[in-house]
Order: sequence, then structure tokens, then C-alpha cells
Amino acid sequence: MEIIICPDVDSVGRVAAAKVAQVVADAGPQAVLGVATGSSPLATYEHLAKLVEAGSLDLTQARAFALDEYVGLPEGHPESYAAVVRRTVTEPLRMDPARVQTPDGCAADIAQAAKDYERQIRDAGGVDVQVLGIGGNGHIGFNEPGSSFASRTRIKTLAAATRAANARFFPRADDVPRHCLTQGLGTIMDAREVVLVAQGAQKADAVAAMVEGPVTASCPGSLLQFHEHATIVVDEDAAVHLA
Ligand code: F6R
Repeated sequence: MEIIICPDVDSVGRVAAAKVAQVVADAGPQAVLGVATGSSPLATYEHLAKLVEAGSLDLTQARAFALDEYVGLPEGHPESYAAVVRRTVTEPLRMDPARVQTPDGCAADIAQAAKDYERQIRDAGGVDVQVLGIGGNGHIGFNEPGSSFASRTRIKTLAAATRAANARFFPRADDVPRHCLTQGLGTIMDAREVVLVAQGAQKADAVAAMVEGPVTASCPGSLLQFHEHATIVVDEDAAVHLA
């Protein structure tokens, strides 16, 4: 694990975007990105968009796979991850919408949709660089504490803490879906590079557990200690509990 501590959120985004752009440059125009939603990677996507605007990054032939999707939220819902990824990734990074995918959280057969998603990632040649955030309880993707290290894309029940944290995106706390389809920890670990971003004091405990704690299913992010190419980019507030 390489740990980079930055003075503020904007520099977290700049450093993480530079790392992603480097992987894309090495992988070639058809690079495969893995993309997280939530607040953490927004600065990274903004900096990637600047590189695209400046002409130093071209993602028109690249592909992207979202980490996760709520179950039961139609694609047209503004908080479905399909919609969030379109707004924050596909459009600003000028990607081809046909090359950007999210798991199908409205599929009649969710187990089959999960299998299909794994196959689609495999058929694309695997993920070159996976952008991640981390939950306050240590989750990555929506692999909540207790998730199997070998897990693949599947349906998960969101932890109460995760639903409470995500209530800010919905009119009422009760509107937050209870289930999601998420790439598994095994799926995430297959990415050739991982770039995890975290900002703010509310992430400090999770960051310390991920980086310095034991590798344990109680903190799914700690599994990244076993990834050969994981870069953790945090601001000073999220780094306060690091030794
Ligand atoms: C989002 C995801 C989650 C978030 C995490 C942090 O696709 O998979 O793991 O990265 O919940 O969310 P924020 O960044 O909103 O604090």
C-alpha cells in the first residue's frame, strides 16, 4: 500500500486523478476503469475532467464499471448509481455511455444480473484501475463488515450506518434502499490498480483500521493491504489516526 497524505480535498482529487490518468496512459485508449459513487471521488472526477478538457486524457474508447447499484431504484431515479455515474463520470469525462455500465439493480433475476456483471467485467479484460471510497465502517463497494474476502458481485443488505450516511441524498431517511448489488471483495482485488480516496475526520478511524489494523472482515478495506498496487490518497483530517 502506498499512502499519500494531502493538505486538502482538492489536492486529494488532483493526486488521485494523476494516478488514474497514468494507469490509463499505460493501459492504452481502451483502458477499463472501475468507478465508485458517493462524495469521496468527486474531486478526483473533477480533476480527470480537467485533464480531458485540456486534451491530455482521452477516455472516448475507455470503458467503466460502477462498483455498485441500489436494488429497486429505477435507472431514471436521480440517486440511482446509473444516474449518478452518468452525471459525475460519463458526461464530464466525455465517455461513451454505451461503454459505461452499472449492475442492474432492477433485474427480475438479481442473482443472474450479478453473474452477468462479473462476466461483463471479465469479457472487458478486467479492471485496469479501480477508484474507491471507504465507508465510516470500513466498507469498500458495499461490502459491509463481515463480507467474505472471496466474494464476487452479489446482493447485499446495507448496514444501518450506511443507510444513515446515505440518507443525505434522499428526501427521507426511509427512502434509502435496503439492498444493493455490489462488486465483491474478490472482484475489487482483481483490479490491476486500486486508488482509494478518503477525506474528513469522519473517515479517520476507518482509514487507520484499513491501513494499520489487522486484515479482517470487520474492516473490509483492510484487505487492500494484500493488494500489490493499492494507492490510498487521504487528506490530513482523514489521516489523523495514522501513526
Ligand atoms: C460507492 C461505494 C461506497 C462509498 C462509501 C463512501 O459506490 O461503493 O463504498 O465509496 O460509502 O461514501 P462517501 O464517499 O459518500 O463518503
